[in-house]
Amino acid sequence: MTQTEEKEVAVRDIPLVPIEKIVSLCKRRGFVYPNSEIYGGVSGIYDFGPLGVELRNNIRRYWWWSMVQTNDNIVGIEGNIITHPRVWEASGHVENFVDILVDCKQCKRRFRRDHLPEENQQQNKCPECGGELTEPRRFNLMMETYIGVVEGDKMKTYLRGEACQNIYLDYDNVLKSSRMQIPFGICQIGKAFRNEVTPGNFLFRQREFEQWDLQFFVHPSEMTKWFEYWKEFRFEWYKGLINHKDRLRLRPHAPDELAHYAKQAFDIEYRTILGWQEWEGIHWRQDWDLSRHSEYSGQDLSYTDPETKERYIPWIVETSGGVDRTFLNLLLDAYEEEPDPSGKEARTVLRLHPWIAPVKVAVLPLQKNKPELLETAKSLYKQLQRVMVAQYDDIANIGRRYRRQDEIGTPFCVTIDFQTLDDQTVTIRERDGMTQIRVHLNEVKPYLLERVTWNY
Ligand code: GAP
Repeated sequence: MTQTEEKEVAVRDIPLVPIEKIVSLCKRRGFVYPNSEIYGGVSGIYDFGPLGVELRNNIRRYWWWSMVQTNDNIVGIEGNIITHPRVWEASGHVENFVDILVDCKQCKRRFRRDHLPEENQQQNKCPECGGELTEPRRFNLMMETYIGVVEGDKMKTYLRGEACQNIYLDYDNVLKSSRMQIPFGICQIGKAFRNEVTPGNFLFRQREFEQWDLQFFVHPSEMTKWFEYWKEFRFEWYKGLINHKDRLRLRPHAPDELAHYAKQAFDIEYRTILGWQEWEGIHWRQDWDLSRHSEYSGQDLSYTDPETKERYIPWIVETSGGVDRTFLNLLLDAYEEEPDPSGKEARTVLRLHPWIAPVKVAVLPLQKNKPELLETAKSLYKQLQRVMVAQYDDIANIGRRYRRQDEIGTPFCVTIDFQTLDDQTVTIRERDGMTQIRVHLNEVKPYLLERVTWNY
């Protein structure tokens, strides 16, 4: 079947990619656009374009498959963004979900105090101009909204500040309507909103973003075991998707870093041009959430073990990551400007894992002026399009077309050439090593499906 064997491409230790390169690529090729751009945009809010939405959907689907579909003890829900306002009193967000701010008296810049270098915090000095900083002030991140139509009779509530609260609200219903028994988990992917004081670095810190959460309910005596299990599981999950494995680490939180709901926490961190930054949090939430919601709602959320009849409030292991941050980190991890050995233009390539690449294959007739080539290429394209995201391209020379696909991370290009007309074989060119193999037309679909689908 093959004339040339594909070779494994070693991951080169390339420099960290500036965020601006990704911003520019995302806009130019239709991954991400600034929201309301024609009105000047809104800081910390973005829209996803045609390729962005494919990448995002693939990331989400892969997470759902690995967390919900393939774990017998996990089910999924989809809760709403707006909830009863008491939820956020019970959760502690109204009181505790605050950032501590300081402003520079001289240059007027605003900073999160915990983001300032140690030295600036101690000396109360602006990191930009050296000016004096104001006294720290508390700033709540919850976004307010109102339910109702009659002025004066509207109920103030919040757009959810963390998506996971719906899981605690639906916990009892899930328990009663499914056959779950502790230990078990509930997953959800959904939007969250925060009035971030310093949104920035593109998708890294936004005001509207998406989270994926697992809340895993356990008997207190098994908390350590499950905390370790999910920490490891989630770390390996991210590791499996990236090229630069040495840029991933687990870091325990210091006591003064812990969120109000956590007794212990680890961050899965990824190193980019921004330094080591949180990608996902693994939180030991203990009985904080179910105890608080029991207390504030008056509903008993304790669990009775069906065998021992022991009654207790389950403890919770949370794994909470960002879909947008995953999107950004995967692009930063995949982006490379590879020098051309022949000294021509560098090749920009997105080495995205084929499972999550937005376009899986491009079908390219070698020449546009040969109707037989176009006909065969279009017929193959139509066949592939039904089972994977495919593109057809007959504009410009073949080298340019390969480059266009490399830049958006398409793992395979299929070229229909003159030999195809003789023996019904085509070349499949692989993105990373640029190696080519020759296969029969009938073998293209099964070959690609095996390479681009995680559950093949
Ligand atoms: N339920 C726990 C929770 O919300 P978190 O550490 O505040 O914990 C979890 O958030 C994840 O959500 C983070 O690891 C990050 O990936 C993502 N995230 C948090 N704030 C974000 C923001 N402003 N913009 C983009 N992603 C954010």
